[in-house]
Amino acid sequence: MKIAILGYGVVGSAVAKALIENEKIIRARCGQNITPVIALARHKKDALIPITTNIDEILQREDIDVFVELMGGIEKPFEIVSQILKKKKPVVSANKAMLAYYRYELENLAKDLTFGYEASVGGGIPIIKALKEGLSANNILSIKGILNGTSNYILSAMNAKGIKFDDALKKAQELGYAEADPSFDIEGQDAAHKLLILASIAYGLRAKPEDILIEGIGNITSEDMYFAKEFDFVIKLLGIAKAKNSKVELRVHPTMINKDKMIAKVDGVMNAVSITGDLLGENLYYGAGAGGMTTASAVISDLIDIARNEFKSPMLGFRDDLQFELLAKDEIFTKYYLRLKVEDKVGVLSKIAKLMSENGISIDSFLQKPKQDEIHSTLFFTTHSTFEKDIQNLLLILQKQDFIKDKPFMMRIEE
Ligand SMILES: NC(=O)c1ccc[n+]([C@@H]2O[C@H](COP(=O)([O-])OP(=O)(O)OC[C@H]3O[C@@H](n4cnc5c(N)ncnc54)[C@H](OP(=O)(O)O)[C@@H]3O)[C@@H](O)[C@H]2O)c1
Repeated sequence: MKIAILGYGVVGSAVAKALIENEKIIRARCGQNITPVIALARHKKDALIPITTNIDEILQREDIDVFVELMGGIEKPFEIVSQILKKKKPVVSANKAMLAYYRYELENLAKDLTFGYEASVGGGIPIIKALKEGLSANNILSIKGILNGTSNYILSAMNAKGIKFDDALKKAQELGYAEADPSFDIEGQDAAHKLLILASIAYGLRAKPEDILIEGIGNITSEDMYFAKEFDFVIKLLGIAKAKNSKVELRVHPTMINKDKMIAKVDGVMNAVSITGDLLGENLYYGAGAGGMTTASAVISDLIDIARNEFKSPMLGFRDDLQFELLAKDEIFTKYYLRLKVEDKVGVLSKIAKLMSENGISIDSFLQKPKQDEIHSTLFFTTHSTFEKDIQNLLLILQKQDFIKDKPFMMRIEE
């Protein structure tokens, strides 16, 4: 089987290398050679296989059996992959951003053709196949994932070393775990793309990134870490999907979770996805979520499935006769954590408690951090479960109070 690799960067070059190095075991597993014959890049470079900078040179070849898209971006790869599918050739891609926007369009184009995307979520963790095949008998009650290694590294470093967000980010950049522009990772977009892919397999949800609640980790402070430790929580950027009746909530945000949960113990750049099915209960899938060889492992597993003729359509594995709907953001119902920097004077606490009760929010726990200076102190609250719209309303009201200094900060709690 001859393949063309569109994009010869971190992952593309690793795919070529792994196909060459593991040639014998791959042939033993699928009964034929999988041979990378040409790759596309923007610039000419030394490579293990011939490189072209001209996409037409690849698209015009009749001898290519499978195209592997590893360019990144959204519109350009979508345009190229669409052309390939129209020519009735199978595609493998690791491109979660393209899939977050165009997975249903691609499924329509692919029809009975193979479109493999195992590498798009969780790097090397075989989470797509787990959800699409191994767990297919279950009603998926929830998916909770640490889906972005950069954010998890930063939060783990803040927690373990007591360092500030900016210092943890700098360290991540020095170690090559964060891009020079890390916004996509730390603002939650990357995790949201992956969550949307998983939610399509589990629920057939057609939501796009702008439809769901996405918050990043940039506002987490050492004070939040202090509170979390005091109350046996850890803070993780989680992608969460939860189904109740026919409604599914999808959200990505920093989350306080009990430190005894399996997923709370996942530190550093590692990824993990916890899936709870009605039949099987909770399963945790853990492993490296990024890196050339790690991602190549998933890309090549799709190629091996194609060589074995083991792919089944439709691409997302969800047929439309069962309808799930996206739950409106306002209707999310969960527990919340609040950090409020206040003027340290008599009566402030009771005013806050009154505002909370007027908004139907009941306090679960309270902590006051020892004073930072003469006039301010920081108050921490957790609430009993309440609606997102009520907490958002409370935040707006609090922000207008003269005794509140700095913007009030809120984080959701997951049990
Ligand atoms: N890196 C990971 O750990 C990882 C993990 C999971 C999924 N992914 C996904 O895998 C894909 C590739 O990631 P990567 O890290 O390998 O990216 P990368 O290192 O930036 O490589 C991208 C490659 O595509 C080529 N390219 C980009 N745009 C092109 C264009 N318009 N025309 C021709 N060539 C073009 C680049 O050419 P030049 O070399 O000339 O610049 C480069 O060879 C992305 O969708 C990413 O989200 C990556």
